Amino acid sequence: LFAGQTEFVKGVVAMSGLPDADRMEVCFAGRSNVGKSTLINALTGHKALARASNTPGRTQEINFFTAGEGHYLVDLPGYGYANAPLPIVEKWQRLLKQYLSGRQTLRRAFVLIDARHGVKKVDHEIMSLLDSSAVTFQCVLTKVDKVKLVDREKVLDQVRGELSKHPAAFPEVVMTSSEKGDGIETLRAIIATLV
Ligand code: GTP
Ligand code: MG
Repeated sequence: LFAGQTEFVKGVVAMSGLPDADRMEVCFAGRSNVGKSTLINALTGHKALARASNTPGRTQEINFFTAGEGHYLVDLPGYGYANAPLPIVEKWQRLLKQYLSGRQTLRRAFVLIDARHGVKKVDHEIMSLLDSSAVTFQCVLTKVDKVKLVDREKVLDQVRGELSKHPAAFPEVVMTSSEKGDGIETLRAIIATLV
């Protein structure tokens, strides 16, 4: 599914620019800097297909990538905070919400949570938006390489507690490290069953 044939399709700044909804897609949402773009690179085995950086607000468009037989992997701008002027950030946030609530072919949203920080208020808000749009979402813990095993368990409990409040949540949480490769194969397998 992910073997060597991933391509960047387009970056979208308005709903009117979305590619035709003619195939299934999964998207990666989460606070700025949580590791969305890096995770897409890890999943597809590319170093810099999706542009990542240490500056929150790196991804400013909805970026579509094709993988395998042609389903889309969708890299979203982050929410929560960003190093960009407020009117611009507000523009992405609007687009992000429109996309998450209005894309017919969106099969599942992966909501990424930094394993050091757990679920924040903004994550809760996005999850509630997904509930009301009836988009199934699944939580992915990122950067687990930065967290000791005992602390991982604590965060996992907090995330599971949060998920129990959300009807659209898929119960299984995936723990990943794009750096070390943990969970990447598991996540690939999940995506393969969806598209
Ligand atoms: P925005 O596009 O700004 O919303 O950020 P993003 O969620 O796409 O984050 P990005 O992938 O750009 O990664 C942010 C930073 O986290 C980069 O410096 C990455 O190298 C780092 N990072 C991402 N994943 C991991 C991981 O698994 N482990 C570690 N240690 N660092 C990571
Ligand atoms: Mg990004």
